Amino acid sequence: MSKADLAKKPAEVAAMFDDVAPTYDLTNDLLSFGQARFWRGVVAKQLNLKSGQRILDLAAGTGSSSVAFAKPGVKVIAADFSEGMLEVGRKRHPELEFVFADATKMPFKDNEFDSVTISFGLRNVVDTDKALKEMLRVTKPGGMLVICEFSKVTNPVLRPFYGFYLKRVLPAFSAIASKTPEAYNYLADSIEAWPSQAELLQKMENAGWTNARFRNLSLGIVALHIAQKDSAQKDSAQKDSAQPAAASKTPKTKAVKK
Ligand SMILES: C[S@@+](CC[C@H](N)C(=O)[O-])C[C@H]1O[C@@H](n2cnc3c(N)ncnc32)[C@H](O)[C@@H]1O
Repeated sequence: MSKADLAKKPAEVAAMFDDVAPTYDLTNDLLSFGQARFWRGVVAKQLNLKSGQRILDLAAGTGSSSVAFAKPGVKVIAADFSEGMLEVGRKRHPELEFVFADATKMPFKDNEFDSVTISFGLRNVVDTDKALKEMLRVTKPGGMLVICEFSKVTNPVLRPFYGFYLKRVLPAFSAIASKTPEAYNYLADSIEAWPSQAELLQKMENAGWTNARFRNLSLGIVALHIAQKDSAQKDSAQKDSAQPAAASKTPKTKAVKK
């Protein structure tokens, strides 16, 4: 298998998702053995949704992550920068509001959302650090961030099997069944290259998020990273983005056991 091009430009990432859009949801269910629905349910629970809230689901794709948050009285904005994914989403979920938005430069006001969430999207955003700062900017003080992303398997027995699945089964499946095998090679390579649970936590803190913690799901195949925007942090997100990352801050992190 040739290594997928991980040095993609944002426009190339968007084009790749335009291509997979029509079959994205079905393939997702198959490749995750139905686990994707479970992971989405855990994200929704973690968000502790309440009527009257405004939630941003960033990199929402076709809206499959967003529908899990559509509770009575909760306004969900599904944002993405792939026109192809948005088009499929608008047809499939007319109840949701879809917005074209680049995660690194969003068309939203400061402090606009009660919570921001991103599922299986941050790994695909070319500038992760910039996106983390943008998410902070649009979140209300005291609001929450929940990131759901593939992570590092913690169980040493499962690790080689999962590696085999990513490196052999996934490419073989995509070569036979997919019109866009490159996208699935990219998926495997991007999961491998993605930061560990602790490294992502550090990135969140560097971006200005507080009370950052993570929770492994399915033995670390996926991890939820959760954090808050400081209640007193009304305007500091913008100040943060103009300064170098606050790497010297005292980390206030903890891993949360399932
Ligand atoms: C794997 S899909 C996830 C979709 C959905 N959240 C889900 O859980 O099924 C990743 C999505 O991230 C989007 N994406 C990648 N980079 C982005 C960016 N810079 N801004 C907005 N969306 C982005 C892609 O267009 C794609 O729809």
